[in-house]
Amino acid sequence: MRNETQPRVGISTQSGVAVMTLARPQNLNALSRALTDELDANLLRLAADETVRVVVLQADGKHFCAGADIADMSTMTYDEATRTDFIGCSRELGRFPKPVIAAVHGMVLGGGCELAEMCDIVLAADDAVFAHPEVTLNAMPGAGGTQRLPRAVGRHLAMDMLLTGRRLSAEEARQAGLVSRIVSRDQLRSQALALAEEIAQRPLGLLTRMKQSVLRAHPGLDEGLAFEASSFQACFQEEPFLQAMQAFVKKQEARR
Ligand code: HXC
Repeated sequence: MRNETQPRVGISTQSGVAVMTLARPQNLNALSRALTDELDANLLRLAADETVRVVVLQADGKHFCAGADIADMSTMTYDEATRTDFIGCSRELGRFPKPVIAAVHGMVLGGGCELAEMCDIVLAADDAVFAHPEVTLNAMPGAGGTQRLPRAVGRHLAMDMLLTGRRLSAEEARQAGLVSRIVSRDQLRSQALALAEEIAQRPLGLLTRMKQSVLRAHPGLDEGLAFEASSFQACFQEEPFLQAMQAFVKKQEARR
């Protein structure tokens, strides 16, 4: 078994590109608080590093990310969720000042899908599957899913996904606007790096101005994110969610 004191996020930097790798594959890169704290610390450092122009976010193992760490959340009280402003995902990715390319494969679920939604370009392997299964835990997204997914795919498909947990293939996600490009699984990392290197040839000032401008394409986002966060935190007071998390941890079927 892997030592959990090892970094949960790997970083390598060259030619203006920083590659961040979720490295908790034995838990399908579930977003524990320790992992997201590391993600945020690395993002803050990369934002300030003038040698970095573009970031690639990728993941080790069979799946990109199975979402928020349910075992971690199952021990959290409502008080902790609100006091720590818990969103189970990254605080820094959505407002990161430089372009970020998500290179995703396998399951891209819940908080993992929210990570992809926060990125600027989503490169998907042909085996990628996108879903928001929070509803099957009697919960809702808490890291921007209700805000960024409708903006990416439109309200009607977004609500279909959010209310049912419906999965989209890479091709369906591309057609819907959630994915920029599809590549074969074995080409994912090299293609993501090549795309990042192409973009990183441009001046940093231009890239950050472009990004800051695009971030303003969605006025009202911050207000929506704050509403969603408190709505998500409210789930921690509700028995059906608490019961569903216990059922997951005990590998039982959740009650509806
Ligand atoms: C904690 C998780 C996990 C998760 C999987 N694991 N998903 N641990 N949190 N989200 C663990 C399993 O318990 C198991 O641990 C190991 O990873 C492998 O998972 P399996 O289920 O055995 O793998 P598989 O049969 O291949 O199924 C893959 C899967 C399934 C379809 C992705 O694991 C799954 O449905 N996971 C839950 C997905 C989900 O509901 N995500 C939404 C979370 S809520 P052991 O110890 O047995 O090996 C969310 C809300 C975000 O994201 C809100 C704010 C951010």
